[in-house]
Amino acid sequence: MGATRAGRGAGSGVGRRRARSEGDLAAAVAVRPVRRGDLDRIIAIDATVTGLEKRSYWRSIYQRYAATAEAGRQFLVADSGGRVVGFVIGEVRDWEFGSPPCGWVFAINVQPEARLGGVGTRLLDAICAAFRRAGVRKVRTMLSRDNTLILSFFRSQGMMAGPFIPLEMDIDH
Ligand SMILES: CC(C)(COP(=O)(O)OP(=O)(O)OC[C@H]1O[C@@H](n2cnc3c(N)ncnc32)[C@H](O)[C@@H]1OP(=O)(O)O)[C@@H](O)C(=O)NCCC(=O)NCCS
Repeated sequence: MGATRAGRGAGSGVGRRRARSEGDLAAAVAVRPVRRGDLDRIIAIDATVTGLEKRSYWRSIYQRYAATAEAGRQFLVADSGGRVVGFVIGEVRDWEFGSPPCGWVFAINVQPEARLGGVGTRLLDAICAAFRRAGVRKVRTMLSRDNTLILSFFRSQGMMAGPFIPLEMDIDH
């Protein structure tokens, strides 16, 4: 995905309905940097999606991505009238895997009741804008093959298969 998002609007999901009229929720949401007081909500949203409450993990992510004001690191939340309904995390990485500096999105989550209202799109727009300000023109992410929801979302935003492939092996022998 580059500075323009050619795929926006393409591939609308079939067989599902928007929870409310398009744009209502997204328009009511402010995207802003995370604050320490948001952590309980973030832990709860993540636990809803993953089934695990990872308090120490989220505290360390906060320290790494929010508490230190390092350029290129982003931890943003979608705030709907004082209630956090989603978040996105990422950073600019230089020359990893031999690639010129680019933005990586590590996590994006919208609480189930707030989905299909454009909040995920607002969050991705905001982190892409921050990456552009940091000087990069490319954003990448990684996702689980069987997570068709997140794949549909990223495809709708214009993201496509990139030039890298993930490899892995067991190292317990
Ligand atoms: C993916 C996610 C962030 C999308 O958030 P959202 O606020 O619902 O997204 P938007 O309303 O901005 O949707 C944008 C587009 O994504 C696609 N999309 C979103 N939800 C979809 C669904 N359930 N089915 C098919 N396409 C979908 C659509 O193309 C949609 O545009 P359209 O409604 O105009 O067709 C949200 O569903 C979520 O948090 N899912 C769980 C994420 C997850 O598994 N995270 C762990 C790994 S990081």
